[in-house]
Amino acid sequence: MKQDMIVILDLGSEQNTVVARAVRALGVYSEIYPHDITVEALRALPGVKGIVVNGGPNNVVDGETITVADAVYAAGYPVLAVDHPAAKTDHKLDAWPASEEEMKALLRPFVFETCGAEANWNMTNFIADQVERVRAQVGDKKVLLALSGGVDSSVVAALLLKAIGSNLTCVHVNHGLLRKGEPEQVVEVFRNQMNANLIYVDASDRFLGKLAGVKDPEQKRKIIGAEFIRVFEEEARKLEGIDFLAQGTIYPDIVESGTKTAKMVKSHHNVGGLPEDMQFELVEPLYQLFKDEVRACGLALGLPDEMVFRQPFPGPGLGVRCLGAITRERLEAVRESDAILREEFRLAGLDKKVWQYFTIVPDFQSVGVRDNARCFEYPVIIRAVNTVDAMTASIEPLDWSVLQKITNRIIHEVKGVNRVCYDLTPKPTGTIEWE
Ligand code: XMP
Repeated sequence: MKQDMIVILDLGSEQNTVVARAVRALGVYSEIYPHDITVEALRALPGVKGIVVNGGPNNVVDGETITVADAVYAAGYPVLAVDHPAAKTDHKLDAWPASEEEMKALLRPFVFETCGAEANWNMTNFIADQVERVRAQVGDKKVLLALSGGVDSSVVAALLLKAIGSNLTCVHVNHGLLRKGEPEQVVEVFRNQMNANLIYVDASDRFLGKLAGVKDPEQKRKIIGAEFIRVFEEEARKLEGIDFLAQGTIYPDIVESGTKTAKMVKSHHNVGGLPEDMQFELVEPLYQLFKDEVRACGLALGLPDEMVFRQPFPGPGLGVRCLGAITRERLEAVRESDAILREEFRLAGLDKKVWQYFTIVPDFQSVGVRDNARCFEYPVIIRAVNTVDAMTASIEPLDWSVLQKITNRIIHEVKGVNRVCYDLTPKPTGTIEWE
């Protein structure tokens, strides 16, 4: 499919992804490339209509000022340079405007009039294009996917089902630390509604056995991560004729692991850790998308809202919210109180407003009164935070009546809980999770 593209050249600006998203919001596809891309590499990219040289004060790497090669300016593409006085183009700007809307307004004439790009980037075209690409890559071979039920892996599953149907096998590992109703939803949506080959592995006992008595949060994380790979590998070995492994890699993962200028480089996340003798070729159909585009893609593929607009959920799941050494009793208290919190947030319209909200159960008890008698039970702590990048976070100022309703439900419906507290700590100093 013909698709126009605006290339953004990375000179260390923190706004590269903001610019790419602003161009895509105009309906034109956009990708970020290193400042030293060669003219040959640029010409080899499909559909390039213009270039944005995205400058700024960060264009010094290892003591050297980086620039774009003269040949790129002379290659015949329209170039808009922002905050980069050295640029050899007539289209120059000192700085981007402050809001995202203003940036779009500024880009509009450059993208459509100067570059003559067409607004042909949309989800229908994206899905049609990816279905074609996956079919061309995979042919009639088989693909394996670790389906956690998170947004990215769920959208990959839906897209691959459309492209290759029964040649996709999904493995859903229930480590016993998922939220109430989650494993059931994965089975219902993918096996029952979408007809996927889904292997459901209930490994709860195995994970809880490995975690028994382990108090240290990092140790808990390591055990959960390593055991997850082991279970997935065991399932993969039982299958025959798998050549491909699908992953929910998205565009920020590519940008963050591939930039030459970024100060903080995050390693490209993947299933990782699979043994050397299990060599799969990767299928990564979402690698071009930002998170909001992944959600739009999921909706267009017919996934339910709760799955597509799911709040972030850590890999170790409720395991890091059941503080200290995990017990089944406290794990159930976390799961049940979390389910109440989620339901009440949905009823109060807070589920679409608050970035992340959950409950925590510490490993100590306090004295209380229940049915006219002394009781000694666990507290539940509520956390509800807003953030842009999870590096810092602020507290959602919850309505008193909402907090009271949630508290009443938790102390009456969750076994072994006699107190509810609301954590008012921003990040920093408190991290979002308690472990
Ligand atoms: P913190 O607690 O570091 O959390 O402020 C920031 C964001 O990261 C999530 N988080 C994790 N996600 N594995 C994950 O996949 C982990 O071990 C993990 N620890 C924290 C947390 O839920 C929040 O969104």
